[in-house]
Amino acid sequence: MLGSGVPVTVGAGLASAAERLRATSDSPRADAQLLLAHALGTSRDWLVAHTDARMDPVLGERFEGYVRRRSCGEPVAYILQAAWFYGREFTVGPAVLVPRPETEHLIDEALAHLRGASGNSPRLLDIGSGSGAIACTLAAELQGAEVTGTEISPTALDIACENARRLGVASRCEFILGDLAVPVRGRRFDAVLANLPYVPTAQIAPAPDPVSFEPRLALDGGADGLDLYRRLLPGLAASLQPGGLVLLEAAPASMAALAALASDAFPNGTVSIGSDYAGLERFVRVRER
Ligand SMILES: C[S@@+](CC[C@H](N)C(=O)[O-])C[C@H]1O[C@@H](n2cnc3c(N)ncnc32)[C@H](O)[C@@H]1O
Repeated sequence: MLGSGVPVTVGAGLASAAERLRATSDSPRADAQLLLAHALGTSRDWLVAHTDARMDPVLGERFEGYVRRRSCGEPVAYILQAAWFYGREFTVGPAVLVPRPETEHLIDEALAHLRGASGNSPRLLDIGSGSGAIACTLAAELQGAEVTGTEISPTALDIACENARRLGVASRCEFILGDLAVPVRGRRFDAVLANLPYVPTAQIAPAPDPVSFEPRLALDGGADGLDLYRRLLPGLAASLQPGGLVLLEAAPASMAALAALASDAFPNGTVSIGSDYAGLERFVRVRER
């Protein structure tokens, strides 16, 4: 140990941190590695290969600060200010939801639909962009795509713009501050994607659950989790091109109700439900004629 109580070597630091994170994390060892790699400005692979390396005391103190924050439940992504989505790194912070792996299914679905379509320059709409994970990923994957994102939080909007710049897609991404699809009224898109807040109010996890650190504006979907979709869906058909695709993410328990809302909103469309990596029903798909 150093005088301050910070372990001297990388291996001892990792072991001590993993032990302390066991109470609040499902992946204490991996979290400790991510936090130490971030503090030292290195990779997890380097840590594994250099467990006997001595830690710089200043960097060791920085690591201890990260471990304390994680022990209180703060998501690793907020401490690192970075999250991975569809193979790309996104800047994140407490103003935006940490992008989730289950949302990657919306990207797969959209790409499968759009790559098979005739046009080379699809126009896409992402409602409730947050970090810009969906919008920026679609722009990066589809070279000719023009992507519009709407977002109610000005701070989230700034982060989405920053991610678009960092990922080199800013010239084909526009982010507009406003409510749901209101800012794009009168425009039509080849695909509309939305991962709107869908946690029923009573089910929002309290601290120290990592979710409690995420913005309520990104989580709270009202009594049954579908308040935002109930406002969005009527009239959404006017924003979709013939033959267009709509993808809406929500909680497994809400799927049947969301599919019914989508059927009402798209009487000429084919509505179906898709599942996530865990096999849970996770999104509603509408193919418009
Ligand atoms: C569940 S998060 C999803 C963020 C991002 N699309 C993703 O998949 O990681 C929902 C986002 O919708 C935004 N939002 C909430 N209410 C909104 C509204 N009325 N209009 C537009 N965006 C809204 C929140 O600020 C938040 O960024």
